[in-house]
Amino acid sequence: MSEPLILGIESSCDETGVGIVRGTTLLANEVASSVEEHVRFGGVVPEVASRAHLQAFVPTLRRALAAADVDLGDLDGIAVTAGPGLMGALVVGIAAAKALAAATRTPLYGVNHLVGHVAVDVLEHGRLPGGSVALLVSGGHTSLLRVGDIATDVTEIGSTIDDAAGEAYDKVARLLGLPYPGGPVIDRAAADGDPSAISFPRGLTGPRDRQRHRFDFSFSGLKTAVARWVETRERDGLDVPVADVAASFQEAVCDVLTAKAVDACAAVGSDRLLIGGGVAANSRLRGLLEERCAAAGIALRRPRPGLCTDNGAMIAALGAQVVERGLPPSPADLGADSGLPVSRILV
Ligand code: KG4
Ligand code: ZN
Repeated sequence: MSEPLILGIESSCDETGVGIVRGTTLLANEVASSVEEHVRFGGVVPEVASRAHLQAFVPTLRRALAAADVDLGDLDGIAVTAGPGLMGALVVGIAAAKALAAATRTPLYGVNHLVGHVAVDVLEHGRLPGGSVALLVSGGHTSLLRVGDIATDVTEIGSTIDDAAGEAYDKVARLLGLPYPGGPVIDRAAADGDPSAISFPRGLTGPRDRQRHRFDFSFSGLKTAVARWVETRERDGLDVPVADVAASFQEAVCDVLTAKAVDACAAVGSDRLLIGGGVAANSRLRGLLEERCAAAGIALRRPRPGLCTDNGAMIAALGAQVVERGLPPSPADLGADSGLPVSRILV
């Protein structure tokens, strides 16, 4: 087979994504989001997300096929997110993928959502040479990974011991009275603020932590520090300078993420860093990584912001890498695994 034509289906959270790729070329990337339905609850409601996937799937698939000018019968494989994610939401995508695979007699590949966030970069910067470090920063996960081969060999070298980076953004936005999802809103608010206005803590960066948690993260102390700071201002009858709080919080998050990512490259002996996940769309994280990677002689690969948040193209991109390696399709009884570890790339 030359370059495999792969359909990717993503339904792990609140975006219904259908992407189509040929090898490392993106042909279509259609996303239907149910985020508006969750805003008034301040976070994703699993049951609402599952129903939205059920309604959005067929129209999103039709749009993707039309955009790529592809027929279902042309596909070499169908890739679907097998986990991690919300159980009910994953099940909708997997059921849809199984039905399509059976009807068109196309091999089905259940793949890892987290690895998909990193694999999507091949659509912009080509196939990935072995031996990279990846910083994965999403709403549910924050990890440093050693990527031997994107389809067969990914190991976690560190992760958050409490909140994920995106979760911290969402929680801090909430306590500042900003809407969900908090990441993009804080990113925008921070643009008008002073990142050095308030000195917030950098979790797990002290000398003792560096021994036990060199590549781990912690954001719950930072979230509490922001809450205390805001409470004190309010108690003293003072205005809360939202832009300065947003910028100072964001600086603390991005400082730690970039410092540990660059340190991991040095420890692993890699001169290449990849980033992926919703928080990888953050303007300050992208800027600071560019500066610090350049200073350390590390080549930085960052997918464009539109490919960082959940989408089907990332699942198709990983599916194509799996098919190119000649790996076997998933079994017919493929199920959803809400806690799928990042090292299980193909289920
Ligand atoms: O990867 P993703 O789309 O979904 C998960 O797999 O979790 O990540 C969603 C997370 C949310 O927490 C959202 O607030 C955050 O990514 N996010 C951002 C930005 N855009 C999305 N965080 C910081 N800055 C952004 N520009
Ligand atoms: Zn994600």
